[in-house]
Amino acid sequence: MELVQDTSRPPLKYLKGIPMVKYFAEATETLQNFQAFPDDLLVSTYPKSGTTWVSEILDVIYQGGDLEKCRRAPIYIRVPFLEFKSPGVPSGMSSSSGKYTATPPLLKTHLPVSLVPQSLLHQKVKVIYVACNPKDVAVSYYNFHNMAKVHPDPGTWDSFLEKFMDGKVSYGSWYQHVKEWWELSRSHPVLYLFYEDMKENLKREIRKILGFLGCSLPEEIVDLIEQHTSFKKMKENPMTNYTTLPSHHMDHSASPFMRKGIIGDWKNTFTVAQNERFDAHYAKKMAGYDLNFRWQV
Ligand code: A3P
Repeated sequence: MELVQDTSRPPLKYLKGIPMVKYFAEATETLQNFQAFPDDLLVSTYPKSGTTWVSEILDVIYQGGDLEKCRRAPIYIRVPFLEFKSPGVPSGMSSSSGKYTATPPLLKTHLPVSLVPQSLLHQKVKVIYVACNPKDVAVSYYNFHNMAKVHPDPGTWDSFLEKFMDGKVSYGSWYQHVKEWWELSRSHPVLYLFYEDMKENLKREIRKILGFLGCSLPEEIVDLIEQHTSFKKMKENPMTNYTTLPSHHMDHSASPFMRKGIIGDWKNTFTVAQNERFDAHYAKKMAGYDLNFRWQV
């Protein structure tokens, strides 16, 4: 009888004290020889903070507003996920993605600063960091755990929230992540964006991105990017909604990748008691930081 190994939902693996999806931790170990180039652009986020959204915006900018070119491959191939590895799915840095990446390349990571391949820092690669308030991130991450089978089973919402607050989920503490990248922005070219600002006024944020990249686009293209990257359009678009991945990897019947795309959805999930506990914890963890998150817009 053939022995079929179950490769889904392995326990997290710690790397330099950071818990990670086992396969991503293994890939990160092999990334230390990764060679970056000064023209690369890195999209960095804590998971569930708007990575896919800003990646699509950037690819449209890089393609000069040519939407047909943006349909050349799914977003995870156009903007390779540095530390991605999972059985039965091509790795983030597989050689096949090379021909679909933008020129110069756009790359994506969720790694905390301490695990980022050194070459990206030495080469002063520009980074676009997107942060989102941790209540909406926790809810989105919980639903994502249910559908993305590389993660451990999230258990109940209450137990997941405890783990999230303790930093015992993949990529560790949300607090540490947003603070470390904020600190880095003082010495490294990092454009620090907020998901809430993107929801509030996307064109303003697109213009910030263009300024950071040192490029300009006609106003009609900025309008086009705004329309093309609306939640509704991206949810319908197979090149951005992750439905092209096999269901053993992402099970959209458990929860779609493009789930709600709103700020304040946490109010539908947090109990009053959970919210009070979270607020007290947040106040302690963020004390002394000039980083302000909005819980609704
Ligand atoms: P929800 O689960 O709250 O709906 P990431 O790309 O970092 O994994 O983040 C995923 C979250 O961003 C999901 O949040 C997803 O719906 C949301 N998202 C993706 N594209 C979006 C868009 N164009 N506008 C608003 N939210 C978007």
